[in-house]
Amino acid sequence: MPHIPSLGPDFPDAPLQLVDLPWLHEAGVELAILRLDLIDPELSGNKWFKLACHLEAARDAGAKGLISLGGPHSNHLHALAAAGRRLGMATVGLLRGAEQTTPTIEDLQAFGMQLHWLGYGGYRARHRADFFDDWLQRYGGYYCVPEGGGGLPGALGCVPLVDHVRRQLSAVGWDDYDAWWLAAGTGTTLAGLVIGEQRQGRQRRVYGSLAGPPSHGVAENVGKLLREAELVDEGYRLVDGSRGGFGRFDAPLAQFICDVEHITGLPLEPVYTAKAMMALRLLVRDGYFARGARIIFVHTGGLQGRRAAQAALDKLLH
Ligand SMILES: Cc1ncc(COP(=O)(O)O)c(C=O)c1O
Repeated sequence: MPHIPSLGPDFPDAPLQLVDLPWLHEAGVELAILRLDLIDPELSGNKWFKLACHLEAARDAGAKGLISLGGPHSNHLHALAAAGRRLGMATVGLLRGAEQTTPTIEDLQAFGMQLHWLGYGGYRARHRADFFDDWLQRYGGYYCVPEGGGGLPGALGCVPLVDHVRRQLSAVGWDDYDAWWLAAGTGTTLAGLVIGEQRQGRQRRVYGSLAGPPSHGVAENVGKLLREAELVDEGYRLVDGSRGGFGRFDAPLAQFICDVEHITGLPLEPVYTAKAMMALRLLVRDGYFARGARIIFVHTGGLQGRRAAQAALDKLLH
């Protein structure tokens, strides 16, 4: 059975940093960013955590390799391919759409991931219960990681973030916080935080800003994960932060990314983190949070994906 070492130190260094932006200041709301984007140049953001339990399960199953799926800019496949290379494990990526070259795809190839393009119809079949069967005939003994590194193992890998933040509160001069705010693609990371809060008997509400339309089933997925964890389906709220669709961006979003980076030095990307922070700004400006509220914003990474969007961002800005 091949031995899969752990990804790195037990807990990567993910600092908590206060940011001050005019709209926060005016509303008297304090924001601390959990900088998961800083933990590792390749396994950045929530991916490190979402993959940790999957890699452990692959090790326990004696897997020969890892197989998963995603789009041509997928942060998940990027992290999986990087993990595979680092751990000496073969990886296979099943891709949405027609064959194309993106900075992410170039990296996947450089990391040694075997790629297969499924088209759109073929990719839609991923929801079928037997989807992986044919692939497992070809790649016998591989461990299948669900889309986005999801499922209960993905959520459980994010649970330790709750303790990690609590341990760091004094570094930003806080003794407690009122809420979490983060981008939600499948809702797996959010579910991990809700599980972490509930396990401690605490109810700091976790807000998920949807990166795609509400029809993408995040609410159903979070409910399912919490039931699988034998917990109650509560303690969170989803808001639509998608600005009209997954991956869509516009001039105000490009301007927002630029302004936040200019004022605070914090880099955001357009698909998840910038939209999540824009959605937060809306609620803060509406007076949704009381003065003095303290919010943890999870920077879930994804900056590798910003390379493909950079030209479009530049165009929108000039
Ligand atoms: C950068 C980034 N942030 C947030 C998310 C959303 O995470 P989740 O699917 O756990 O909701 C993703 C996608 O997985 C992502 O790549």
